[in-house]
Amino acid sequence: MLVLGVETSCDETGLALVRDGVFVAEALASQTDMHAVFGGVVPEIASREHLRMLPLLLPQLLGRTGSALADVDAVAVARGPGLLGALLVGLSFAKGLCLGTGARLIGVNHLHAHLLAPGLESEIGYPALGLLVSGGHTHLYRMDGPMQFRLLGRTLDDAAGEAFDKVAKLLNLPYPGGRYLDELAQGATPDTHLFPRAYIHNDNLDFSFSGLKTAVAEELGKRPHLALASMPTADELRERGALALSAHPEELAGICASFNWAVAETLRIKAERALEREPDLRGLVVAGGVAANSFVRGAVARLARERGLALNLPGLALCTDNAAMIAHAGWLALRGGYCHALDLESVPRGRAVPQDWVRIGPAQAGT
Ligand code: KG4
Ligand code: ZN
Repeated sequence: MLVLGVETSCDETGLALVRDGVFVAEALASQTDMHAVFGGVVPEIASREHLRMLPLLLPQLLGRTGSALADVDAVAVARGPGLLGALLVGLSFAKGLCLGTGARLIGVNHLHAHLLAPGLESEIGYPALGLLVSGGHTHLYRMDGPMQFRLLGRTLDDAAGEAFDKVAKLLNLPYPGGRYLDELAQGATPDTHLFPRAYIHNDNLDFSFSGLKTAVAEELGKRPHLALASMPTADELRERGALALSAHPEELAGICASFNWAVAETLRIKAERALEREPDLRGLVVAGGVAANSFVRGAVARLARERGLALNLPGLALCTDNAAMIAHAGWLALRGGYCHALDLESVPRGRAVPQDWVRIGPAQAGT
């Protein structure tokens, strides 16, 4: 069963092939550098780039793997949540392929796909706690199976990645700046009293990162020399490293370590609270762009160890947006006997993804 995954929900254009749940290949084009100068993703530029890149990536992917379009049994597409225009480009492309080849269409929830992605590397032990930390979402789920997600908590304002990106902007780092803050903090000792672990003194499983962002903004207001004199390009940062561009590397590293620590600890505390409330959970799955963060990885690895849980923490390429996770989630849906009709709709950010599956028997699903 060969599934082609299509990802266009934000600023990565991705196509990937998964055969029987095993990764085959991916063609990914990042638009990050195009949006960096604007300090965030510009939706119209994102849509146009997806439209330009998808037809270029498809022959690349097929050529590299020696496959033909006719070999594809199903096309799995990220249907949302995401930028509506960007999603519509991917969905139209996927529908066109299905119309042309007769392949089945599967609409994938982008958030669920993030959390299922580690399953490409090692099996997920259900029931598991799923912590999704990305640029747009910070969600805690109870995962009873690949198709069974129950939302336990979510951010009430900024997502964890958004907090990283906003702090990076204050330091004059290009968008998305999360990874530079991670890099800047390497080797420094966090001051655990400098920033609040925001919104933990309550009894819920929700998050709020706006208070932390304000605290960092106030601290940086007292230390204006810490912001880089001019915004470096992503290339400059890659070549020289973020620390080399600062006139006050030690002080900056300390601030960044304290911020990284505060985010990671907040995530750990709420995840631990969720595990206490759902004592039958056997696994911990952490995914999304912020799961690439070294402080977050350390904190959740400790948590899993202390509680004797199986930890699924994907490699860095599977943390950020990619099409392999979409193809994989699509394959899991198909294996379970689910697909979609060609009237499938995209779902913008902020709206719930409907359960509008079409049920098919395992024989029809070909598994
Ligand atoms: O999952 P993702 O690629 O896209 C969304 O679906 O949002 O996540 C992107 C987010 C951005 O906010 C980016 O700054 C953040 O992930 N990010 C990081 C790191 N790598 C990516 N944040 C902190 N530390 C990192 N190493
Ligand atoms: Zn994502």
